[in-house]
Amino acid sequence: MNVPLLHRLRSAGGEFVSLAEFELASISADLDDLERRGFLLERHPYRGVAYRGPSPRLCPDQIEWQLGTHRIGRRVAVWNRVGSTNDLAASAANSSSNDGLVVLAEEQTTGRGRRGRTWTAPPGSSLLMSVLVFPEPPIAGVTWLTALGAVATARVVSEISGYTAQIKWPNDVRVDGRKIAGILVERGLGTVIGIGLNVGYEESSFPESLRGSATSLKILTRHDIDRSELARALIRQLDELYLQGLREGPAALGQLWSDRIEPLGRSIRVTTRAGSFRGDLIQADLDQGLRLVLTTGESLWFPHQEILCLDGEDMTTLGG
Ligand code: BTN
Repeated sequence: MNVPLLHRLRSAGGEFVSLAEFELASISADLDDLERRGFLLERHPYRGVAYRGPSPRLCPDQIEWQLGTHRIGRRVAVWNRVGSTNDLAASAANSSSNDGLVVLAEEQTTGRGRRGRTWTAPPGSSLLMSVLVFPEPPIAGVTWLTALGAVATARVVSEISGYTAQIKWPNDVRVDGRKIAGILVERGLGTVIGIGLNVGYEESSFPESLRGSATSLKILTRHDIDRSELARALIRQLDELYLQGLREGPAALGQLWSDRIEPLGRSIRVTTRAGSFRGDLIQADLDQGLRLVLTTGESLWFPHQEILCLDGEDMTTLGG
């Protein structure tokens, strides 16, 4: 695929690009190829060609072209249909040369969410991505990598939609209280960061049980999103944060995570084995947990692993 040509057309912002600047022998075949791959082009006999829209399918050449990342995205594999991208990435963990491998799929038949839940998404509706890493200390823990996935996704969602994306403790990415992405980090020979991001859903395409509590980039922007460009942005963001974590240490990532924690400052109810406690959430810390000022005036840390429910919603540990 002629990616420089695609890039030139995309960056013209919908204007016609004269074909005089291209190699005449191959340009027609290259344009046919782009159209076959699903890109929308408008051809004009003498004004040239204008870009009208992205391919509805993930395009590996477009994702990898001049990606420029250091650790994450050194290899990118795009599949049509898999069981779970997390499983596929994990199956590559027998070789550390696969460090930074990104696996993407249009569809999962056995997609997993947290706590053994299934994660379903109609083909082409989402970004289903798993990243395999062999992290060194200090950010080797599942907790840090979950935070890294959530912060990277929240940043990309904010950048593309213009809305503030927050992290609902421990790791759902939400906009205006509606979930747009979930993160599932699993550890085996390597560690896999799995991200499911709702992209092309209309309100009506969510199952009834999720309407009102879920959203997508299409709902927020009213535009068709180019999922290959979205994948590029997410891979770059993950790489940047991963390197920052290794360079500056966990505190830097911890701060970025807690800055986006959604219920900060609000009154919440936390349930542990010892009972239910209501208080204002005044601090969220990746190591220590959530700090509440209880209605009695007492200030108390609730370690992440102790929290069973938050505001009545069943919760899990940061990584699970
Ligand atoms: C959650 O329950 O919120 C986490 C959902 C994580 C879903 C993603 S989709 C890509 C990757 N592959 C999987 O099977 N799960 C994760």
